[in-house]
Amino acid sequence: MEQQRKKMTVPEIQAKAARGEKLLMLTSYDYPLALLADRAGIDILLVGDSVGMTTLGYETTLPVTMDEMIHHAKAVRRGVQYALCIGDMPFMSYQTSIAEAVYNAGRFLKEAAMEAVKLEGGVEMAETVRALFNTGIPVMGHIGLTPQSINRLGGFKTQGRDAATAKQLLDDAAALEQAGAFAVLLEAIPDRVAQLIHERAGIPIIGIGAGPHCHGQLLIVHDLLGLFEKFTPRFAKRYANLSEVIGKAFADYKQEVEAGAFPGPEHCWTIKDDELAKLKAML
Ligand code: KIV
Repeated sequence: MEQQRKKMTVPEIQAKAARGEKLLMLTSYDYPLALLADRAGIDILLVGDSVGMTTLGYETTLPVTMDEMIHHAKAVRRGVQYALCIGDMPFMSYQTSIAEAVYNAGRFLKEAAMEAVKLEGGVEMAETVRALFNTGIPVMGHIGLTPQSINRLGGFKTQGRDAATAKQLLDDAAALEQAGAFAVLLEAIPDRVAQLIHERAGIPIIGIGAGPHCHGQLLIVHDLLGLFEKFTPRFAKRYANLSEVIGKAFADYKQEVEAGAFPGPEHCWTIKDDELAKLKAML
């Protein structure tokens, strides 16, 4: 029997972290996988702009639009009863002005029933986070490897590997917390830097490629399921190989149709002999 769980909210997420229980977070882009992740008890579903790479076939996350995000967020939300749903602010939906950031974040809540948003950036985003907080929109900060800045970073590269850049990450996390962020996501940074951030934080710290010393972990669902074959980051663990499973199912379907083995009688409807005879008489 399916376990009944109380709906996750921002305070519940913070309370779970404060109790020392691990937070479980996955990305989600559509109804069927949202339904399964929610059923499995994943606490937070992030409708990430990684949808651009995993699902829409873009080379980076940069082309993803607000309308595309809303479309996917609505589908995810329809599959969720338990998880906290977070909409990821796509490139250029929040960097141009605070007013635009509030407007676009508000769209996630109004149009797709998301319960929070995530945005990339640290100290430089503090004012925006504060404005969203004041509007009643919970924000998860995202620092470290921030894929919307790959052109500045020179690619998908680990961040904070020297004292100066690591110190900047600590300052960024503190600035986000002070601005009202309810949690901070650390992507692709050394585990001991993440540990220092975790030790100093008063809000949940979630890692993706940031080691075990975090309140919770995030994986891209396509990496976990083995559905994204272009590249697998070092931090991604594959728990299944769905590309292989799906590839085999398609090959079996092709083989059976070509051999006349599908559809079989069990997949067909029939017409009674007398009705068929009447029909033939009409022809
Ligand atoms: O879009 C996304 O899925 C993300 C994660 C890579 C953190 O931002």
